[in-house]
Amino acid sequence: MKETNLGRREFLKTLGVAGAGILAATSPWLSAFSEVNHTARDRCRIGIIGPGSRGQFLMGFLAQNPKADIVAIADIYQPSIDGALKIAPKAKVYKDYRRLLADPEVDGVIVATPLNTHYGIVMDAFDAGKHVYCEKTIGYTMEECFNMYNRHMSSGKLFFTGQQRLFDPRYIKVMDLVHRGTFGKISAVDAYWNRNGDWRREVPDPSLEKFINWRLYGDSSRGLMSELGCHQLQIGTWALGKLPDRVMGHGGITFWKDGREVHDNVHCIYGYDTGESLTYGSVISNKFYGLEEKIMGNLGTVEPESGKYYFEEVAPAPAFLQMVNSWENALFEEIPFAGTSWAPETANVNKGEFILGERPKTDGTSLLVDAFVEAVITGKQPERIAEEGYYASLLCLWGHKAIETGQMLVFPEEYKIDYAPYGTKKINPATDSPA
Ligand SMILES: NC(=O)c1ccc[n+]([C@@H]2O[C@H](COP(=O)([O-])OP(=O)(O)OC[C@H]3O[C@@H](n4cnc5c(N)ncnc54)[C@H](O)[C@@H]3O)[C@@H](O)[C@H]2O)c1
Repeated sequence: MKETNLGRREFLKTLGVAGAGILAATSPWLSAFSEVNHTARDRCRIGIIGPGSRGQFLMGFLAQNPKADIVAIADIYQPSIDGALKIAPKAKVYKDYRRLLADPEVDGVIVATPLNTHYGIVMDAFDAGKHVYCEKTIGYTMEECFNMYNRHMSSGKLFFTGQQRLFDPRYIKVMDLVHRGTFGKISAVDAYWNRNGDWRREVPDPSLEKFINWRLYGDSSRGLMSELGCHQLQIGTWALGKLPDRVMGHGGITFWKDGREVHDNVHCIYGYDTGESLTYGSVISNKFYGLEEKIMGNLGTVEPESGKYYFEEVAPAPAFLQMVNSWENALFEEIPFAGTSWAPETANVNKGEFILGERPKTDGTSLLVDAFVEAVITGKQPERIAEEGYYASLLCLWGHKAIETGQMLVFPEEYKIDYAPYGTKKINPATDSPA
C-alpha cells in the first residue's frame, strides 16, 4: 500500500476525537500534536544521515511538510545521494556524516543507516547538540541502546525512534479499547510476521554484497528480530502494559541456505511472572499467515493489522438459520453420527468486526515524521516515545540473545530505565472519554 501523508486534522477525525489530549492515557506521545506555541521559529532544518531506502521514504514526508526543510544529506553511497537529491535538490551533500553534524544550520537529524552504524552516529549527533530520530532497532546491543537512551536524557535533546505503529490510527484505537477492558483480561499476545522471499537486494558489484545486503550478515544485523520483531514486540508491551521477565527462543536457517548468516526462521516466547505470554515468530519461506498481532482476552480477540475484533460470545444466529439448524438436527438425529459434526465452531462463524470503517491511509510513518518536526520546533520531547522505542529495541535484542545462547534469559536489571509502561495506568471508562 502506498502511504499518503495524512494530515493531523484528518488523523484525529479518523480516530473520532476532537483533540489529541483525549488519547493521552493510551498514547501519551500524541502530545506532540497538542496545540503548540511556536516561540522560537515556525520551521525546522533537518539533515538525513543514510538516505537509502527508508531514509528516502521518510524524506518524502518531510518534503510535504511545510514546517520542515531538508537542508543536508550525508551518505557514503552515490546512488543513495542521487536518489535523495531528487527529493531534496537543494540539500547540501556530505560524504562524512560528521561534517553534517558540524553544520550549524541543522537542527535535527534522521539516522537511517544500517543497524551496526546507529550507535556511533547517534552518540556523535547528541554530542553535536542535534535532536535525533533514529530508525529502529536503535542499537546493535542492549548496552548500546542503554547508552543511547541515557545520552538523550543527559543531553536534553529529542530522541525519536522508528516505531511508527505508535502513530497508526488502527493501533491507537485498538490500544484504547484494550486498556478500557473491552476484550477482558489479556492473557496472551501472539505476534508473527511471515513472508516468502529471500530478503535479498540486487547487488551491482559482488564487492558490495555485505554493504547492500547488510540485513543478512551477523556483523551488521540481528536479522528478523531486529528488522521485523522490533515493531511487533512493542505492540505486545503496549497491549499488556508491562515488560516481560524472561525469554526463550529458537531460530535457524531452514530454507534460504545461500550464504546468509541470519536466521530465516525465528520464534521467541516472552513470559511474565504474572503468567501472561508474548510470542513472536517470523518465517520467510511461507507467507500464508502474513503479519498480525493477536491480542487475546477472555472476552475477545483483537487484531490491529487487519483492524478487526472478535468477541468470544457471538450473537445468536438469526431465527431463520436457527430453524434450518433445528431441521438438520432433527434429520441427523435419525442417522448414527459420532457427534454433532454439523455444529459450526465459534471460530469458523465469527467473522469479526472492523474497528475503523475505512482502512486508514497511513501506517503511522507520516505522522511520526510530522511529530518529530513539531518536536524539533518546540524543543519538547513527547512523553514516553523514547522509552517505547528503547524497550522495543531491548526486547528484540534480548530475544535474539536467547536464540543465540539457547538459554532462557531473565530480563537484565541493569538495562531497566526509570519508566513504567503506560498500560499500567488503566483507563477508567467512567472518566476517560472514548477515542
Ligand atoms: N521503521 C520501519 O518500518 C523501517 C523500515 C525499513 C527500514 N528501517 C530501518 O532503517 C534503517 C535503514 O534501512 P534501509 O532499508 O533504508 O537500508 P539501506 O541499505 O537501503 O540504506 C542505508 C543507507 O545508509 C548508508 N550508509 C551506510 N553507512 C553509512 C555511513 N557510515 N554514513 C552515512 N551513510 C551510510 C547507505 O549507503 C545507504 O544509503 C535500518 O535501521 C532499518 O531497520 C525501518
